[in-house]
Amino acid sequence: MNQTRGSPAPLPIRTIDVIRRKRDGEELSRAEIEYLVRAYTIGEIPDYQVSAWLMAVILRGLSRAETSALTDAMLRSGDVLDLTEFSAKKVDKHSTGGVGDKTSLVLAPLAAAGGLVVPMISGRGLGHTGGTLDKLESIPGFNVNLSVPEFRRVLAACGCAMIGQTAEIAPADRKLYALRDVTATVESPYLICASIMSKKLAEGIDALVLDVKTGSGAFMKEEKDAVFLAELMVETGERMGKAIVALITDMDQPLGSQVGNSLEVIEAIDVLRGAGPEELRELCLELAGWMFVLGGVVDSVADGKTRAAELIQSGQALEKLRRMVKLQGGDEGVIDNPERLPRSRYTLTVNSPASGWIASINCEAVGTACVVLGGGREKKEDGIDPAVGIVLHRKAGDAIRAGETLCTVHYNSEARARRAQEMLLNSYHVADEAAPVRKKMLVHRVIRGSGGK
Ligand code: URA
Repeated sequence: MNQTRGSPAPLPIRTIDVIRRKRDGEELSRAEIEYLVRAYTIGEIPDYQVSAWLMAVILRGLSRAETSALTDAMLRSGDVLDLTEFSAKKVDKHSTGGVGDKTSLVLAPLAAAGGLVVPMISGRGLGHTGGTLDKLESIPGFNVNLSVPEFRRVLAACGCAMIGQTAEIAPADRKLYALRDVTATVESPYLICASIMSKKLAEGIDALVLDVKTGSGAFMKEEKDAVFLAELMVETGERMGKAIVALITDMDQPLGSQVGNSLEVIEAIDVLRGAGPEELRELCLELAGWMFVLGGVVDSVADGKTRAAELIQSGQALEKLRRMVKLQGGDEGVIDNPERLPRSRYTLTVNSPASGWIASINCEAVGTACVVLGGGREKKEDGIDPAVGIVLHRKAGDAIRAGETLCTVHYNSEARARRAQEMLLNSYHVADEAAPVRKKMLVHRVIRGSGGK
């Protein structure tokens, strides 16, 4: 072949150069990012090289063009679902991760009861945060590993289905997510954006509501970082032609009162019965309101919230959950008899050493205490104990007397319970009796892109 005419053939991309260039803060080309994602997904690059690259990204960040190339490459590492056979709007919601966040369990059936199709692909616990799949699996028999044809069948039968990533959907994220979890490379807005958006855009949805958490239990502790992540995701979603909104919501303390897999399923069922803690109910209505707006069911969030409240009141949302649980092989009896869910053998209480007001709760420490109890994974290969967790009796802004109960620990191992008890005691900050503490706002901000109304 004559190489003297035209441009020379490009040099092959070498993994070590991609790592070095990112380490030195250079901007990678789309081709380099595509190469890295494709080669890692098919097992041609080892974990240790990708770990080094992920750490370089944590330290150096990615440009908008790199973030977009990474999201695209991860999205195209697998299949993109075509759900055009469903005439209703396909709308999902995704949270960036928190403690006690069981809103997905409420929202999927609630939005489906309102006429939307909700093809929800969720994740497992990451770091100190809980995962929707782990919660669902505490329902005896519930199968989160449906094939794509089975997923479609459940969607057709009840309007919502909740599964984990299949081998076909965003396989690059599946591998990268597990690697990030054990290499301290979770907290990068660019990696979180690419991870979430690649999965969500592969679902074949028309619209997406993002719940971006901020506070001591979120990956983005500072609100400005949560806003940055939200803007990144809204921009990425809009570029792909999706209707999208991000709510910046409070994760400075656990959401609701119950933390732990089966405990959270119980609390989600309570909300669908019209009960449950007020702030959890309120956040569910707000997120559902936005899902109905983006799905074209109503014109305003206020109308969407009213519609959501009616669907709970009438029992239609709870019926959707019952139907989905049954269709996915789960014991639907748990809906009326939550005691059929796994329960821990023992409980102990954590009591306040002083009288005063709960000034703050270190939310990450509560999440970590739940992991320590066995409700999450400390190592990749760890199993989950669905029964363990924490019930909070006092939240920030509440008054307390010395000796009263702050929270109850549900446990199966004495040694784990002792560690968790210590962490929980230290996580509560009780302020002086004379200084009442104001409750925080639940929704801090709403972020819509340039295409938004
Ligand atoms: N949730 C995800 O799906 N990915 C992340 O990286 C963080 C939270």
